[in-house]
Amino acid sequence: MNPKTENLITVLDAGSTKICVLVAELNDGVLRYRGHGIEAAQGMRRGVISALGPAGKAINLAAMEAEKKCKAPIETTVVGIGGPHVRGVNCQGGLNMGSRMKEITREDVRSAIDRARSVGLAADRDVLHLLPQQFVLDDQGGIHDPVGMVGNKLEVMLHLSTCSGSALQSVVTCANKAGLEVSDTIFEGIAAAEAVLSADERELGVCIADIGASSTELVVFFEGSVAHTAVLPIGGDHFTNDLAVGLHISVEEAEQLKRNFGNCVVTAVPQLNEIEIGGDLATGGQGARMVRQRFLAEILEPRAREMLTMLRDNLRHGGVLEAMGAGCVFTGGGANLAGLLDNAESLLRVPARIGYPVPLSRMPAELARPEFSAAIGMLLYTHRTQVRKASEEQGLRQKLKSIFAGTY
Ligand SMILES: Nc1ncnc2c1ncn2[C@@H]1O[C@H](COP(=O)(O)OP(=O)(O)OP(=O)(O)O)[C@@H](O)[C@H]1O
Ligand SMILES: [Mg+2]
Repeated sequence: MNPKTENLITVLDAGSTKICVLVAELNDGVLRYRGHGIEAAQGMRRGVISALGPAGKAINLAAMEAEKKCKAPIETTVVGIGGPHVRGVNCQGGLNMGSRMKEITREDVRSAIDRARSVGLAADRDVLHLLPQQFVLDDQGGIHDPVGMVGNKLEVMLHLSTCSGSALQSVVTCANKAGLEVSDTIFEGIAAAEAVLSADERELGVCIADIGASSTELVVFFEGSVAHTAVLPIGGDHFTNDLAVGLHISVEEAEQLKRNFGNCVVTAVPQLNEIEIGGDLATGGQGARMVRQRFLAEILEPRAREMLTMLRDNLRHGGVLEAMGAGCVFTGGGANLAGLLDNAESLLRVPARIGYPVPLSRMPAELARPEFSAAIGMLLYTHRTQVRKASEEQGLRQKLKSIFAGTY
């Protein structure tokens, strides 16, 4: 391994609007920002890759920019997976270890998880995450880690996050085309949660919604574990398109108007406010006309309510609507839309807030925005997984040592 790259973690978030490659360095247990590259997305449609060539090229440009900033070669990356092809399901399974009490080993835990996962996994799906919710040992539930406990029957309840194998393969192929080897995959909703949620919120029950351009990734945590995941086929671009159609303007202009003057609470916009639209700069503003700013809100508010109703129905269907003691957190670029929280609080009847990602050490302020939650969360998640694996290996080494020393 190149000594320069060994402490670097690189993540790739190939979204519908932007490709983001983010690099951090692990130093004395602290994750430090090293560099990033952002490119406008190419070859992406509705959250999945629709053309390998252009998507690979955009990833390559973002990776080169990141390499230049961090002054080190990037060889491997963790990729984020999102879009409506991602699904989540809760499943349950376990092991009966005979009539004699037995100490539970890590191997037993793995077998129980394997059985539970085979119950919930359809043939054409790839597993993104196996997230244990709780273990039940001889009918005693609520167990987090049963290794070392004694019992006959071990059951596990887990949340299984899966995605379309071909969609995942396309992201891997594009990363490979850009010269990056893929070391792991993470569901973008789980990654965003890592960057914006507190431990208390996960314990009390919280829903995080990562509103991207074309889809919204949802994750609900309850009692510290993932209780539900889903992807809604609606995102910020639906709002932009509504404005473009409603005002007969280009998508580009609609996007600017949404960002600068958009609000999805009609009554929050002063009645007399007017804005100029449709002016073509190339022709000295010809074709410009005035519209009431409220007219924008009259278009945006129904779309926001539609999205939030879809969200509420999805949570109700997943049996988690009443599990959000800490409310709902909105992140992703779409969460920047003014008035979204008011609509969310009135429709979902829980407190709502915008989720900003926790900043990495030395990270530029421009990345501390909701649209980078997934990328930053991928770094944090990867770091946490590495630390956990290292401590498990350390534990195993310690155990082997004491076995050989005859003290175990
Ligand atoms: N200030 C703003 N007000 C309203 N919407 C905004 C604002 N800034 C960004 N957005 C919207 O956020 C969306 C892009 O968000 P983001 O960058 O998280 O998406 P993405 O990761 O590229 O897409 P996806 O996750 O769907 O693949 C766009 O629809 C954009 O219009
Ligand atoms: Mg995204």
